[in-house]
Amino acid sequence: MLKGRHLIDPMDLTVEELESVFELADKIIENPGEYTEVCKGKLLSTCFYEPSTRTRLSFEAAMLRLGGQVLGFSSAENSSAAKGESVRDTMMTIASYADICAMRHPKEGAPKVAALNSTIPVINGGDGGHQHPTQTLADLLTIRALRGKLTDFTIGICGDLKFGRTVHSLIKALSRYENIKFVLISPEELKIPDYIREEILIKKGMGFQEIERLEDVMSELDILYMTRVQKERFFNEADYVRLKDSYILDKDKMSMAKQDMAVLHPLPRVNEISVEIDSDPRAAYFKQAKYGMFVRMALIMKLLGVEKC
Ligand code: NCD
Repeated sequence: MLKGRHLIDPMDLTVEELESVFELADKIIENPGEYTEVCKGKLLSTCFYEPSTRTRLSFEAAMLRLGGQVLGFSSAENSSAAKGESVRDTMMTIASYADICAMRHPKEGAPKVAALNSTIPVINGGDGGHQHPTQTLADLLTIRALRGKLTDFTIGICGDLKFGRTVHSLIKALSRYENIKFVLISPEELKIPDYIREEILIKKGMGFQEIERLEDVMSELDILYMTRVQKERFFNEADYVRLKDSYILDKDKMSMAKQDMAVLHPLPRVNEISVEIDSDPRAAYFKQAKYGMFVRMALIMKLLGVEKC
């Protein structure tokens, strides 16, 4: 049962629970008209202390499409955080206004603190450079739709593996599926954090390699997950400027890839995927954003314990 639970880390959901969310998302995609009133009378609060387009708006679109309503704030400056209020106190207040809350915060662990002080389900919409479990739901639903399964593939993850929270959550979640191989492509300075390498990849005996050049592995990949260099997490501008264009996926590189390789990206993109790739049938990132809304509809229903009448 997912009713009343929080989603802070991708491991909060078992593989079976994930599958139940994906199955509900499939049903919603097939028959959206049957779900337009299931959350009538329910309120989602979006507490976003950091910028967002897809995550916040897909949460809001999801709740509105389910017949519920939304309220919230989209920056710390628009909330009492600007006056010095703690996440704990904000959450204790929101819990008496809304039925469910999605929170994004620049500090790692803030949504967890909120969950520990909340009587309503709290969903982590991204905490600093740590985790982003609902992006992972979107990523997995996309892979499952494209390949028909979540097993037996080689996935290249390219870009900012150090600060990219979507990367950390995706690796954690995929570590529970059979025969997944990771190729981790990044500059030396942006390699995957030790806690992911040691606690997940090595401990779980995953096949993985860490390399710097995308060209060297392009032809082996079934999925390529591109990421943005996370400017807002850098301590100095010069490092960001030096690293920001480390990878640019263009037609030349795509010509080395398998005919059915899928290109994913959590978005926003800066320069890392050339716009000319958007019309390549292997580009799946805008589809992925759409799946993000459907999977959040399913998640909201599950956490609220709402059934289709
Ligand atoms: C990601 C994030 O916020 O971590 N965006 C998203 O939620 N789709 C990726 C990013 O900002 O690079």
